[in-house]
Amino acid sequence: MAGHIAPKEPEIEKIRVLIVDDVIETRENLKKLLFFESDIEVVGTAMDGQEGVDMAYDLKPDVILMDLNMPNMDGIQASELIIHELPETQIIIISAQSESHYLRRAMLAGARQFLIKPFSSNELVTSVRRVYQLGKEQEKRKQKQIDQLSKEAAEKEEGEAKGQIIAMFSPKGGTGCSTLATNLAIAMQQIVNESKTDEEEEESEEKTKIVLVDAGFQFGDVAALLNIRVKATIADIAPLYEELDEELLESVLMEHDSGLKTLLAPPRPEMAELVSPEAVSTIIKKLRRMFDIIIVDTYSTLQETLINILDECKLIVLVTTPEIPAIKSARLFFEITQALNYPPEKTQLVLNKSDRRSSIRSADIEASIKRRVEAQFSIDELVVTTAINQGVPYVIADSSSVLSRETHAYAKKLHDYVLQPELELT
Ligand SMILES: Nc1ncnc2c1ncn2[C@@H]1O[C@H](COP(=O)(O)OP(=O)(O)O)[C@@H](O)[C@H]1O
Ligand SMILES: [Mg+2]
Repeated sequence: MAGHIAPKEPEIEKIRVLIVDDVIETRENLKKLLFFESDIEVVGTAMDGQEGVDMAYDLKPDVILMDLNMPNMDGIQASELIIHELPETQIIIISAQSESHYLRRAMLAGARQFLIKPFSSNELVTSVRRVYQLGKEQEKRKQKQIDQLSKEAAEKEEGEAKGQIIAMFSPKGGTGCSTLATNLAIAMQQIVNESKTDEEEEESEEKTKIVLVDAGFQFGDVAALLNIRVKATIADIAPLYEELDEELLESVLMEHDSGLKTLLAPPRPEMAELVSPEAVSTIIKKLRRMFDIIIVDTYSTLQETLINILDECKLIVLVTTPEIPAIKSARLFFEITQALNYPPEKTQLVLNKSDRRSSIRSADIEASIKRRVEAQFSIDELVVTTAINQGVPYVIADSSSVLSRETHAYAKKLHDYVLQPELELT
């Protein structure tokens, strides 16, 4: 139509307009004025406020042309109800000059625009397009705000849950998973303790905090290996996991003489039932807020709880020994981690009970599993057994042994690896 700019894109979405007016001539007139606009479509006409509300709910128009004075329900009340239910709707109030005192109320009711009678077709069309555009813009801005908020929330969440999890895992029992987990944790604690004396005391608050979690919920070994008196365990807090706060969690952590904090396994196997997968996930998330490094000694069953822990891990250390069954199950485990879509850098293979006299060398294992052996720990029954019998981890009881030195070296590697932000896994 002359004087109006028709939209260039033929497939443009039409602005859907509802007309609410009790006077039939006005309804027809408004319809006529909009009829030739290719981007505007009148989807309905209502004869009073109540019908306007009903039709609005039904048709969900983009724009409503609303009269003020109508029987049954006036335009202000109708606008209020519509905006409440359909906040995206743009309402243009059509009023006579004499009704100008209503405009403030109409505005408060959520009307976007006013057209004072009489108005030209051009004014009407421009208003409709403008409020429609305004609505779109608001929509976009709102979406942007929501995106921004959720992004901020996610960042905050990540910023708080800064702790990195290292899980020690062996698909086969008896490879030394618990022995290594406890000794590596103690060695890491020693690294942190030693760095304390080098630096300013003021900085001591920023020391790396380490916790060792015994996830062998049925047959946990950590308490025995570290000779810790079990006063509280995960079984005390697992049933309360929904109301768990940091203070309560802290209160069940048992501390080893070295300063290492531990979350111990229940004292009796049947109590493992108290520890649900949801509880473990919640507790682990809380620990990530409280500690920098969380070392988890796991038990060799791939159940939901363990998968949850492994999913959250920065690193899974797979412990194998130079024995065919252990190597076979290690290979199987790497197939599983592939199926779980874990990136290769999320897993490391280490060889425990390595023995120079053994016919199976680490090179053979690497060839068989097609993974590098990241660290080797010598077999040393004397050192290990003596330490266990004394209830003192070997890295403390016999710190100069080859095994202790190997353990220390790997603990340092792990410590540096998990705390390096540029190596963050996505
Ligand atoms: N490097 C090692 N040299 C000698 N014996 C070891 C070594 N590591 C672990 N052991 C022994 O192997 C056995 C199993 O160890 P454990 O840590 O309980 O294994 P897992 O947790 O994988 O079942 C224990 O008797 C432990 O003393
Ligand atoms: Mg174990």
